[in-house]
Amino acid sequence: MSIRILSTSALVGPYVEQLGLDFPELVVAPYRSAAWESALLQAQALIVLLSEPLTEKDLEQCPDLRVIGTYSVGINHLPGAYCKSRGILIVNTPGVLTDATADLALALLLALTRRISEGETLVRSGNWKGWEPDLLLGSSLAGETCGILGSGPIGLAFARRVFAIGMKIVFWDRAGTHDMVTARGGIVDEDAAIDLLHDNKIGGFGLDVYDNEPDIRTRWYTAPRTVLLPHLGSATRQTRENMSRMLCDGVRNILLNH
Ligand code: DGY
Repeated sequence: MSIRILSTSALVGPYVEQLGLDFPELVVAPYRSAAWESALLQAQALIVLLSEPLTEKDLEQCPDLRVIGTYSVGINHLPGAYCKSRGILIVNTPGVLTDATADLALALLLALTRRISEGETLVRSGNWKGWEPDLLLGSSLAGETCGILGSGPIGLAFARRVFAIGMKIVFWDRAGTHDMVTARGGIVDEDAAIDLLHDNKIGGFGLDVYDNEPDIRTRWYTAPRTVLLPHLGSATRQTRENMSRMLCDGVRNILLNH
């Protein structure tokens, strides 16, 4: 079928390749490479990653564009209002990454409260002198209260996990929560969090998503009591394959049926 799909990546799993069987004009070219820029002009479908923003100016170059698939649940890297005005549909991947993301949030919580990174660093340094009564004491979680910002699917999945380890749970509603100290990049006031850590006003901070990835504030590198991860929330093989499948099915469906 003579429909040009332009993807910046083969993603994880066989699904982009399979899309190419239905749409042989599919091109895979790195984001903003010369090949990508030239294929953009005829594209009817674009597939991009969360880290690959598209601007109105980009989309003005593709008069035939019908759908953008993003390999993420987040869509803040796409010009949503402009797409709407041109009738360009957006396909994203909600739902399939809920459990993986909640697992990672729990891992961050445990890593902070049980000082996992510090323990590992100590062992690898060769300086561990053996068991000591007060070596790297952390904090118990059972009986403590866990505050969760947002009671959507990921918040609820995280609540189930912390409930299982004996924590009490308090939810905050999503409305009106900008620049708070917990939750997703862009919602967190990162500078305030770093100041609070230095002032010993908060016990610790675990992050997986940041304001301006990958150029994060260098202040994070020296912030005390932090665990810093490189946006791994959905990074399990199963989840990334499910995201690919969902994305490619959605793009195929729109190209064939809309
Ligand atoms: C998303 O999908 O928005 C996550 O941040 C990455 O998987």
